[in-house]
Amino acid sequence: MQKNKGYVDAQYLNTAAKLLEPIKHRSYELMRIEPGQTILDVGCGPGIDTIEIAQLVGETGYVIGIDQDPEMVSRADAYAIKLGLNGYVEHRISEAGALEFESDQFDTSRSERLFMHLLDPEQALSEMVRVVKPKGWIVVVDSDWGSLSIDTTEIEVERRLARFRAEKILNNGYSGRRLYRIFREQGLNEIIVETFPIQATDLKLLRYLSRQDEVEKKAIEQNIITQHELQRWHYDLEQADRGKRFFASLNISIVAARKPKVR
Ligand SMILES: C[S@@+](CC[C@H](N)C(=O)[O-])C[C@H]1O[C@@H](n2cnc3c(N)ncnc32)[C@H](O)[C@@H]1O
Repeated sequence: MQKNKGYVDAQYLNTAAKLLEPIKHRSYELMRIEPGQTILDVGCGPGIDTIEIAQLVGETGYVIGIDQDPEMVSRADAYAIKLGLNGYVEHRISEAGALEFESDQFDTSRSERLFMHLLDPEQALSEMVRVVKPKGWIVVVDSDWGSLSIDTTEIEVERRLARFRAEKILNNGYSGRRLYRIFREQGLNEIIVETFPIQATDLKLLRYLSRQDEVEKKAIEQNIITQHELQRWHYDLEQADRGKRFFASLNISIVAARKPKVR
């Protein structure tokens, strides 16, 4: 299968999940999960959240995760089987922009770090709203890659790379800051926005999670930065890391809202 722009593998998602645990848990709170509910996770990846949520809804509930990547879906199913939860959590191959579900079916729908990959995030949100019951909650978590800030003396290169990642490496790299707008455009009620800064003082981890090798390689290929600038940038970051003063931050937003009683 052709991997989409900005593809990350299951190992990446498991590493990121540890750092994002408080944000994930806050998203579950905003979903107002209760035992017995039926819940949809769009762009579920290897099932990190569907498995957690299955334990919150319990055996009387039901959780469905969808993902366009068959590899992610089979990993997620294997994880559910391993934990003996497969009676009430399942994963399906499906496309976020055209959900294969009846309208008004789920108590809640959620999506995490999917919208940054989408060419048409409005369509995906409208599908998430469609399949939720009236008055149900819709919760989306996403990063604003334009907000990635790295402390460096090479500010010019740092800014150019941040823009390049947000605008060229990802389909919708500014997704986090755009969520509030697209939620409002859907005419949803009780909109809540929360933004969380995540921080890194470990250069190696930051490079891995921001897929810096790939960004720099493509930035060189597309003449966004020169080899000389790349060397200066690496030197500065490594000096900071050696001196234990490396610092970077990134904003992640959660937007939650309720589907109106009548649309
Ligand atoms: C960054 S991962 C996040 C996975 C998971 N939500 C998590 O937080 O661990 C994005 C996931 O969205 C899936 N994806 C990307 N575009 C999609 C689309 N158009 N429809 C459905 N899934 C999609 C990818 O295959 C990937 O598993």
